[in-house]
Amino acid sequence: MRIDVVSIFPEYLAPLELSLIGKARQDGLLELNVHDLRTFTTDKHRTVDDTPYGGGAGMVMKPEPWAQALESIAAAGGADTEGGSHGPTKKPVLIVPSPAGERFNQALACELAEEEQLVFACGRYEGIDERVMEWAAGHFTVRPLSLGDYVLNGGEVAVLAMVEAIGRLLPGVVGNPESLVEESHSDGLLEYPVYTKPSSWRDREVPAVLLSGNHGKIAQWRRHEQFRRTAERRPDLLEEFDAGNLSRADRAAFGELGYDVVDGRLRRRPDGGLPD
Ligand code: ADE
Repeated sequence: MRIDVVSIFPEYLAPLELSLIGKARQDGLLELNVHDLRTFTTDKHRTVDDTPYGGGAGMVMKPEPWAQALESIAAAGGADTEGGSHGPTKKPVLIVPSPAGERFNQALACELAEEEQLVFACGRYEGIDERVMEWAAGHFTVRPLSLGDYVLNGGEVAVLAMVEAIGRLLPGVVGNPESLVEESHSDGLLEYPVYTKPSSWRDREVPAVLLSGNHGKIAQWRRHEQFRRTAERRPDLLEEFDAGNLSRADRAAFGELGYDVVDGRLRRRPDGGLPD
């Protein structure tokens, strides 16, 4: 995969040289280029912003430096910016981090990990002139994405999070791919709690089932802990959960948490209590 990031603060992206993502770059699993938007300006002051039409607070990012930056990246990546017959047929994906974007989640990370080229456009100030996104749609698949319902000062921190979430899904990046299967959100549930040695620590014991050596029981306990945690911390996830193929034991576990299965979906009992 090739990733390009455009920002007025390229140093902000330095952590992408570290840890698993840094290693993936060294190993050639991921090509990552960070571009300074100001190198695509033409005036003495390297201006990237201007006042908003219609008035209001703050500044807006000017369109032309963005077009220059994105055109140069599309050309370098082999993308076909003219609509002719050269380059890959699939457009690169242009991700624009924004609190006004679609919510980024694990399913989107999996989808984006399949792409050949991702380009991240880090907005600052009040955002990028909207015409850039319209124009870019001719060359890229444009996806405004939000990390969550809060406002950051710019897209850079969101890019760090998204590149890590996507990059770790690329083949060979995480040493043991099984760890990608058994983690929060991989199956629409939160992960079960984990423990390590010593088995007794400050008067707290590791749950006995984990020391039993009974792998079937351990798997069931972990699954039911996933149900319990998700019901407690993220009940919204259970609304989307596919409960059509739950075992009798799984249904019973949800029953104790106050949920019935109705038409393949979990439904919270109004009083949250046990069934009659
Ligand atoms: N830029 C500013 N706030 C953001 C958010 N919540 N998600 C993604 N990009 C942002």
